[in-house]
Order: sequence, then C-alpha cells, then structure tokens
Amino acid sequence: MTRHHRPGGRDRVRDGGPGEQRSLAVRFGRGMDPLGLSSPITHEGIAADLRRLGLSPGDSLIVHSSLKSIGWLEGGPDAVIDALQEVLTPRGNLAIPTFTSPAPEFVVSDTPCRTGLIPETFRRRPGVLRSTHPTHSVAAWGDAAAEVAAGHERATALGVDSPLHRMAKLGARVLMIGVDCTRCSLIHVAEATMRLPYLGIAYPGYDVPIVVRKVDGTTTVYHETEFPGDSSNFGIVERECGRRAQVIHGRIGAADCLMIQGRHLLDAAIDLLRHDPGCLLCRSPFCVPCAESRRLVDPTAQEQGSE
Ligand SMILES: CC(C)(COP(=O)(O)OP(=O)(O)OC[C@H]1O[C@@H](n2cnc3c(N)ncnc32)[C@H](O)[C@@H]1OP(=O)(O)O)[C@@H](O)C(=O)NCCC(=O)NCCS
Ligand SMILES: [Zn+2]
Repeated sequence: MTRHHRPGGRDRVRDGGPGEQRSLAVRFGRGMDPLGLSSPITHEGIAADLRRLGLSPGDSLIVHSSLKSIGWLEGGPDAVIDALQEVLTPRGNLAIPTFTSPAPEFVVSDTPCRTGLIPETFRRRPGVLRSTHPTHSVAAWGDAAAEVAAGHERATALGVDSPLHRMAKLGARVLMIGVDCTRCSLIHVAEATMRLPYLGIAYPGYDVPIVVRKVDGTTTVYHETEFPGDSSNFGIVERECGRRAQVIHGRIGAADCLMIQGRHLLDAAIDLLRHDPGCLLCRSPFCVPCAESRRLVDPTAQEQGSE
C-alpha cells in the first residue's frame, strides 16, 4: 500500500493493485507504451531522460514540476527524486521550492508545501535541508546544500542572496518539468537585483509577521519586506532566452520540459527590465498587484490611476 502525501496535508491512500494501475494507465495514457496498458515510466527511464537533457554528475539544478505531466510513473514522486539524485550525484546540488501559504507559524519540519507532490516528498527525504523562510522556503540536497539553505530567515524570499540566487551563482540550471517559466521563481531575483519600486507590494495576507519554528525547536519572528509578485508574464524571459538560443527542450516521461542556465535567466530578465521596468507585470484587469506595481514603474499609469 502506498501513501501519497498531498500538499496541503491531506493524504490519499492507494492500493497499487490492478484496478488502480488500469485507471492510472487510462488517465495518464501519453506516458505508456502505445500498444499496451502495462508499462509505466520507471525511475531508470527518468534518469535516462535527464541525461539526454545534458545533466551529469556534479551538476546543480533547480526543479519546478508537475508530477501528473510525466505520465503513469512507477514509484510516483520518489522515482523522480531518485533519478535526479542518481544523475546529479552528491557532488552536485538539487534545490526545489517548497513554498507555503502565510500562517501564524511556519514549522520548518512539518508545514506542507504548496508547490506540488515532488517538492513535498523531496523536503522529507533524508539529507535534504529546508531553508527557514516562512513562505518561500527551498529544499536543498547535495554538496552545497547547507550553504544554499543557510540563513534564509535573514534574507528575503526570492531576493539577493536567497537560496535560489545562491544556486544560480553556483552555476545551477533551472529545469521546468511539465510547466513553463511562469513558474520560474528565480526570475524574481532579477526584480530584487534591479531594486524595482514595486518590491514592497504584497499579495493579501503576506505582509504579516510569522513565527518560524526551526528544526532545532528554536523560534524567530520573520516579517518580509520584499514580496515576490505575479509571475504570469515571465514567459517573456523564456522567449528572450529562446531568442538567445539558451533554452534546451526535452522530455521527461511524457512531460514537455525546458532547461535554462540560471545565470542566463537572470541576465535576460535584467536586460528586459533595464529596457522596461514594468515588463514582468501582467496586464490582466483583474490582477491588483500588477496594476499597483505598474503605477510605480510607469508615470503615465500613475497619472491615469490618480484620476
Ligand atoms: C500546481 C502544480 C504542482 C500542479 O501539478 P500536478 O501535476 O497537477 O500536481 P503534483 O505535481 O502535485 O502531482 C500530483 C498529481 O500527480 C498525480 N499522481 C500521483 N501519483 C502518480 C503517479 N504514480 N504517476 C502519475 N501521476 C501521479 C496525482 O494524482 C495528482 O494529480 P490529481 O491532482 O489530478 O489527482 C504544477 O502545475 C506547478 O505549478 N508546478 C510548479 C510549482 C512551483 O514550483 N511553483 C513555484 C512558483 S509559482
Ligand atoms: Zn499580474
């Protein structure tokens, strides 16, 4: 019997028997062999796909993922993590965002993440360190994990010297499994590097002090000052990296994937922001944070907003 840990704390129990295998097979058809309903994707297959993307021992990697997009996977999220660790080896580094919603207390060892089943499984694995930011923690494994995760409660969520920034400085690539760069949190680091005037605008509920309970039981109170905003327009950075021939496309199981050097993402985002400081903001009439942020970077919008 396999217990699947669900982000948000609700566990679902699966028996893994023929009935369940058939229903997973029908549901995740793209990942199976074309003739039968009998060959799930395995951890060895995932490892081969990662190597085909160009990953090898000693590499550093940030991963954002959709497990479902991989297809019917034997071993579930653990198979993906096993494959990543096998390919990167402990000489390399793996970092996965384990973001959480704001709550009065963030318990580093317990609070479930909201970034998917792979991150939720990864953060609980032996040897994985979770950083201590109350809403934007990152789980890290590998040679530099301690250095990457350290002191996040003294940095900002996704700012300068945050764990994802440190990973990029280590030469990490960013792998998007079944999701595009609208989920690429590293791009927020470019907003912080550029000291954009909208960093102080928080999503509702985020501008609050939060108690952080660390793994050793000690607590500290954290109040964020730089809030990551909306990422729905981050495709602009992916397209710019594409223009610069810096995007590697591939497949992991049935998932469409793309991989970009962290430094390339930051350079492209910074170049775009230099040209237009509002370029990462969306134009949805329903997106309050982006509308407010745009007024701060675009004087015309400010005039219109004050009418
Ligand atoms: C939100 C998000 C996680 C949803 O992706 P998802 O694939 O639906 O969800 P998860 O990765 O948590 O995987 C759970 C799904 O895998 C399925 N699953 C479980 N075991 C499985 C197996 N062995 N084989 C295949 N799928 C399986 C589950 O049934 C579940 O699907 P359901 O919710 O339809 O039942 C994804 O779209 C995303 O945004 N990922 C990036 C998150 C991130 O890093 N965010 C940071 C910045 S915004
Ligand atoms: Zn927006």
